[in-house]
Amino acid sequence: MRNKRKVTEYFRTLHHKKAIRAVTAASLMVGLPVIGVYGYLRAVKNFKLDYVPLKLNNKHSSIKGMKIIHISDLHYGPTNKDKKYFNRIFDHINSQHADLIILTGDYFQWDPNYLYELPEMLSRLRAKIGVFGCLGNHDYGSCYPGSVENDPFEHHITKDALERKDIRILTNESQIITYKKEKFNLVGLHDLWSNQCDPKTAFQNVDTSLPTFVLSHNPDTVHMVDQDYDLMFSGHSHGGQLTWPLFGSFVVPQRSQNLKRGLHYISDRKRIYINRGLGHTFRMRINSAPEITLFEII
Ligand SMILES: [Fe+2]
Repeated sequence: MRNKRKVTEYFRTLHHKKAIRAVTAASLMVGLPVIGVYGYLRAVKNFKLDYVPLKLNNKHSSIKGMKIIHISDLHYGPTNKDKKYFNRIFDHINSQHADLIILTGDYFQWDPNYLYELPEMLSRLRAKIGVFGCLGNHDYGSCYPGSVENDPFEHHITKDALERKDIRILTNESQIITYKKEKFNLVGLHDLWSNQCDPKTAFQNVDTSLPTFVLSHNPDTVHMVDQDYDLMFSGHSHGGQLTWPLFGSFVVPQRSQNLKRGLHYISDRKRIYINRGLGHTFRMRINSAPEITLFEII
């Protein structure tokens, strides 16, 4: 009698488990394609403005209230050439009346012909102090990494094209900015994958007792800088780009898998912000909306 009850209970549990598995499988079969279609059709262009208040550890009251806009990873190229989308973004940025605009690389993708269209569009950006940037891995060659020999799309061509439109590109170098009688440093690194990233050279003239901001495309560089800084602006990860419910992101091409998006504290005077980017390497985004970040120094 007792055995019969156990057998009945066993089959009831088995049916219950099978039912749960069947419902889960059906939900995934229906849900994932729906999410995928949304990611393909809409999510790649639904950009968000994220507000981040940033408290500095040292006392530099004059730069309190300074507004910094940060964007990254535009990937303008054959698969991502909607000028209306980018112009809508640049209008939105200008409406924020930022003091400083920071760009952290991957401006172009695949085709060198796009190299000259984007700087023209970027020249519309307005900020009281100016527009500053560093380079991303895609800015060192049309197929970088893995550029072919004699690739005409070299990093200095990218840098020149942007600087001709008043976008200052910092490659292992620094600049002192004066804002409301206060000084602060902007330090830009070469991209990590270019094998030219050299924080020591970039920091050689930097007085780190001043507020110091670092521009570096790849978040992995956060562990390569010995000097103190207040914030590293970074990109590269696209926030995971495809972050599926339950499964998370499949591929993020970097070692620091925890540094995919948002603000992270590394130590007392070492923080990093990873922007989700505005473009894409292939036309899809899931749970990783294109991002404009507005920082306010408080
Ligand atoms: Fe990128």
